[in-house]
Amino acid sequence: MKTLVAPSMLSADFGKLAEETRRVELAGADWIHLDVMDGHFVPNLTVGPGVVKALRPVTRLPLDVHLMIENPERYLEVFVEAGADRITVHAEACADLARTVKKVRSAGAQVGVALRPRTDWKVLSGCLEAIDLALLMTVNPGFGGQAFMPEVLPKIEALREVFDRHIQVDGGINDKTAAQTRSAGADVMVAGTYLFRAADVRQAIASLRGEP
Ligand code: DX5
Ligand code: ZN
Repeated sequence: MKTLVAPSMLSADFGKLAEETRRVELAGADWIHLDVMDGHFVPNLTVGPGVVKALRPVTRLPLDVHLMIENPERYLEVFVEAGADRITVHAEACADLARTVKKVRSAGAQVGVALRPRTDWKVLSGCLEAIDLALLMTVNPGFGGQAFMPEVLPKIEALREVFDRHIQVDGGINDKTAAQTRSAGADVMVAGTYLFRAADVRQAIASLRGEP
């Protein structure tokens, strides 16, 4: 499976989001990852559909929207209308995960389901056929710049045995931890701090794919 790279715009300069988006697109990014936080599901607040809409005309890359919000069903349509290509909801935030997954699909986007580091992958068992992506968080969601949690690696391996679509990792991803997650079976690398602090973002993106 080809490794894809999705820069997390959470670590970009928010005063220049359009420019930063173009910069990572030109440097070889595959998707643009947008972290939506509501101050309830996680203790932080970030951006909403207005920012998705503003970035839609800026890039040709898919907009990969990671909803770290309670009751995500309420906002699915507004994010799809704003231009989200893929919506990832947290299993822990859904009262009826199968129903939310269906609603994302019928709103017209690809569907991802995210799990906090300590959530068992088996909560996905009932919907593996219905989703395009599983996001296995490698930090506790809420903030950029945290340390990668290696205890998630066996979960990646276990899920890879039964799931042949995208396994995305998010949190503390750099050249070294990307290599560990790729060997475990992940194929989509989300990275914020590592990419936006890099002196050469093209080279940093390539390094997440294991290229020199
Ligand atoms: C954290 C977000 C991540 C975050 C990753 O809750 O989901 O996308 O931006 O940031 P780094 O790469 O700095 O750990
Ligand atoms: Zn994220």
